[in-house]
Amino acid sequence: MNIRTETETPGLRELLAFYAEAGVDAALVDEPINHLAARSAVDPQEAVAQRPAAIEPERARPTAAAPAAPRNNQFQPGGTVAVPDEAQIALARQRAATAATLDELRDQMAAFDGCNLKFTAKNLVFADGNPEADIMLVGEAPGRDEDLEGLPFVGRSGQLLDRILAAIGLDRGSVYIANVIPWRPPGNRTPTPHETEICRPFIERQIELANPRVLVTLGGPSAKTLLNTTEGVMRLRGNWKTHVTSSGISIPAMPTLHPAYLLRNPAHKKFAWRDFLEIKVRLDQLREQAPLS
Ligand code: URA
Repeated sequence: MNIRTETETPGLRELLAFYAEAGVDAALVDEPINHLAARSAVDPQEAVAQRPAAIEPERARPTAAAPAAPRNNQFQPGGTVAVPDEAQIALARQRAATAATLDELRDQMAAFDGCNLKFTAKNLVFADGNPEADIMLVGEAPGRDEDLEGLPFVGRSGQLLDRILAAIGLDRGSVYIANVIPWRPPGNRTPTPHETEICRPFIERQIELANPRVLVTLGGPSAKTLLNTTEGVMRLRGNWKTHVTSSGISIPAMPTLHPAYLLRNPAHKKFAWRDFLEIKVRLDQLREQAPLS
């Protein structure tokens, strides 16, 4: 019998509240999927054959304009690629290298189907600010607000970042901002190492094309990816490092704490404050050597 009693309703509400708290705030498809029923299908081959047609999102289908994804990169239920391998990374590297300008890079990324995160995200979050700026900041991955607007750091952590920048006399017109991962991971989950490696060529090329005089990595994942280190951000922060572009140019890089972390740990804002003062000193020195933009 399919009768819902009063006592069952709070359970559902709690389940939804639990999902919301866990960050599951985006539906991937309109209709619910009964995974238990799918698993009990008599003929497993038939069940597998039926799955993609039933739940494949509209945007997962290659369009005429988009280059075809590698055969082993078909979108799968749950937003994963079927057989992760080096092909997507090689393809990303090749696409990134062909971009001669930031606009071309954005077009290449928008047409790239090799990262499964694209198919659950609403927008490509490419960059904000001034691409001519002397300072570039790179975060980890967009959240819900960024995904909706298609711009990095527009949510609560972005507002804190704006206040930090203002404290050293900077704003969105004098900085360039991007993320290691340009598509929001569903439910704000941590990007997998494989997803990071697929997106790496794009952010590396973006840094190379923007060619800032100072790079700031926001949070541990950005520092680990762009500074090729496994050290924790608490040990890294506050110390100048070097980001080396694929064409061999060295850019001074300051790892600092992520604004979202600072919102959760306000007592650590003092560390970020010190890091940004250090960044200001460096920018002032560069300004003495040659006028900054
Ligand atoms: N956190 C990030 O790392 N990037 C954003 O754009 C927003 C939040």
